[in-house]
Amino acid sequence: MGKISMMDKLSLPTHSAMLSADFIYGVATASFQIEGGIANRLPCIWDTFCGKENTIIDGSNGDVACDHFNLWQQDIELIDSLGVDAYRLSISWPRVINESGELNQEGVNYYLAILEALKARNIKAFVTLYHWDLPQYLEDKGGWLNRETAYKFSDYADKISRAFDGLVHAYATLNEPFCSAFLGYEAGIHAPGIKGKEFGKKAAHHLLLAHGLAMKVLAKNSPNTLNGIVLNFTPCYPESDSQQDKQASDFADDYFNQWYIKPIYHGQYPDILKQLPAEHHPDIQEGDMAIISHPTDFLGVNFYTRAIYKACNNEHFEQIPPPAPITDIGWEIYPKAFSELLITLNNTYDLPPIYITENGAAMADEIIDDSVNDLDRVDYYHHHLNAVNTAIEEGVDVKGYFAWSLMDNFEWAEGYSKRFGIVYVDYNTQKRTIKASGNAYKELITSRK
Ligand code: FCB
Repeated sequence: MGKISMMDKLSLPTHSAMLSADFIYGVATASFQIEGGIANRLPCIWDTFCGKENTIIDGSNGDVACDHFNLWQQDIELIDSLGVDAYRLSISWPRVINESGELNQEGVNYYLAILEALKARNIKAFVTLYHWDLPQYLEDKGGWLNRETAYKFSDYADKISRAFDGLVHAYATLNEPFCSAFLGYEAGIHAPGIKGKEFGKKAAHHLLLAHGLAMKVLAKNSPNTLNGIVLNFTPCYPESDSQQDKQASDFADDYFNQWYIKPIYHGQYPDILKQLPAEHHPDIQEGDMAIISHPTDFLGVNFYTRAIYKACNNEHFEQIPPPAPITDIGWEIYPKAFSELLITLNNTYDLPPIYITENGAAMADEIIDDSVNDLDRVDYYHHHLNAVNTAIEEGVDVKGYFAWSLMDNFEWAEGYSKRFGIVYVDYNTQKRTIKASGNAYKELITSRK
């Protein structure tokens, strides 16, 4: 056995399409995870959730986060210094819309300044309209369990896309509706912390409806931007070749992954719907599936890891603990699943161009003498970038790749205990330090031109 060596730079095969200057490289963030600035916006479900006992591992919240609300100018300079083509950010709905449903001009101005600064630097803005920070006043009326929320979202999309006219390259309606629906309204480990199998698919349906309604609005208001959605996938693998394990894994795949993509591109939910008890079903009204399957200009794919399943007596499946190697958040490092995912999606659906809108790893970073030598993260990126390249070679139309994340930030229920950044954040001083992975990413990107 040879010694396991860590990559210290990122490389791709010489003729890779990912080395061409028109392949888009970017970094991604989300409003609640980095902004802080809570005095200047309405409360969202994550503020409330963080205020409850035993929800966030380190008892923290998003009150200050990376203080990007105040430090955005230097952060944009930082993004620019990485040589990226694009920046994926999300808009805080409770910062830009008042409870009356009108635009809050102060909040809109904050994002206009950011979008203008990006434009001045020739950095494409990939804007996500909903990265989980639902206004609390809407949760008080049922949140995503209330069909009305979908129409509120569409109204928000309408107002904000008019306000941002000419400054955006791409709009994603939602980020990872699986997480909002399943983690937020079924497992209860994300905001708003509601638990129960009868809620997950109902919330999911309203989220997908919100997406479809907003797509129509974006197509009208903003025909020159790429309009689409960001979905996360955790590909499912059976523990063995047995028929039972394969069935278990297929069921999990339909429940967690296909549930969100199939309605968009096939206009229907997976067949396992019939196997779910009636009280777990979504409330589908006539015409909903046609709204949900509105054409998209792109599909955003987020990938971190895979999951392995086996058959189980009382449930449809049981997940087995991830085998080594794992990252600091406990997710298995298995880049092969990334290529296989992209190839399978491409074979199953008639897809628009794909952008990898998130990929990255939490590692136990140490800052020593002002530097972070995160070779484990460089290694992760190297293998995952090459996995994307393999899929492209197999005919998948991938046009861009975003590293999650620009900088360490509030990692939801994990608080500040997990670091995903290619830039290190010292939360006491708010000092940013580009990690070895950030430098390697920059070198890959700038070597193309
Ligand atoms: C994704 C989220 C993102 C980040 C990464 C690690 O599910 O979209 O905000 O937390 O996971």
